Amino acid sequence: MLELSGLSEMRAWSRAQKARGGRIGFVPTMGYLHEGHLRLVDRAKARADRVVVSIFVNPLQFGQNEDFTTYPRDRARDRALAQERGVDCLFTPETKVMYPADPVTRVIPEAMAGILEGAIRPGHFAGVLTVVAKLFHVVEPDVAIFGRKDYQQATLIRRMVADLDVPVEIEVAPTTRELDGLALSSRNTYLTADERRSALALSRALRAVEQAWRGGEANPEHLQRRGMEILGVPGVTPEYLALVDESLQPVARATAKTIVVVAARVGPTRLIDNVVLGEGIAADPAVRA
Ligand code: PAF
Repeated sequence: MLELSGLSEMRAWSRAQKARGGRIGFVPTMGYLHEGHLRLVDRAKARADRVVVSIFVNPLQFGQNEDFTTYPRDRARDRALAQERGVDCLFTPETKVMYPADPVTRVIPEAMAGILEGAIRPGHFAGVLTVVAKLFHVVEPDVAIFGRKDYQQATLIRRMVADLDVPVEIEVAPTTRELDGLALSSRNTYLTADERRSALALSRALRAVEQAWRGGEANPEHLQRRGMEILGVPGVTPEYLALVDESLQPVARATAKTIVVVAARVGPTRLIDNVVLGEGIAADPAVRA
């Protein structure tokens, strides 16, 4: 596995692969890789001839009081996992290489970015879209794979690519969960054993909403109330649980396409999760952590 950290080296490598007829699959990450990331790599391998994984903890997407400095980092472990999974190129730029100066230009999304996660993390999605746009310019992938756990992020990236005519196909892959339902996240590493037990309230709340919907309830307010009942356990501070459509707008009636998005603090850790009602959590692939 090749490891590159310069922007022009990365671009040159991608262009050389493409000149030989190779398609580039890309998985952008902030590192501390887990099975969820590695399944995105599997998807990229199925869709392309060469797979690039970037590891870059992007300061632009963290708020002042967020966990940028403490975000888990373990480059040696990431390198070993990526190599084992068949990644061709690990792209690991330094912050000063990605941002030699404070950017004057950012990708600022419209209202869709100011709700749900965006309401709680102002500026977060401008940071995400700016770095993803830069990474796309450097890696020039044919297809990029994102996880569905970050539903709003994936939706905004799709919109950015469409709005700005970026020549890349976006695939959004299902959330990978542990067998008890907990969605994999690098931030799960912050959880104590007790908090990890409490964190199951998120996937349980989503399941409860899904079950109520399967039982015939389609009123979003009733379904939201049902989810909140399950979410409100000791140790969990709910932030939102909402039923939205593919454009993140509240729905008047829940259907198979409705997405239930949830965010909560478990102790000091913020976790998010979601389910598409018609697909259900059980349909997502599970792993033993
Ligand atoms: O989902 C993430 O890990 C990050 O938001 C991303 C897409 C790599 C941008 O920094």
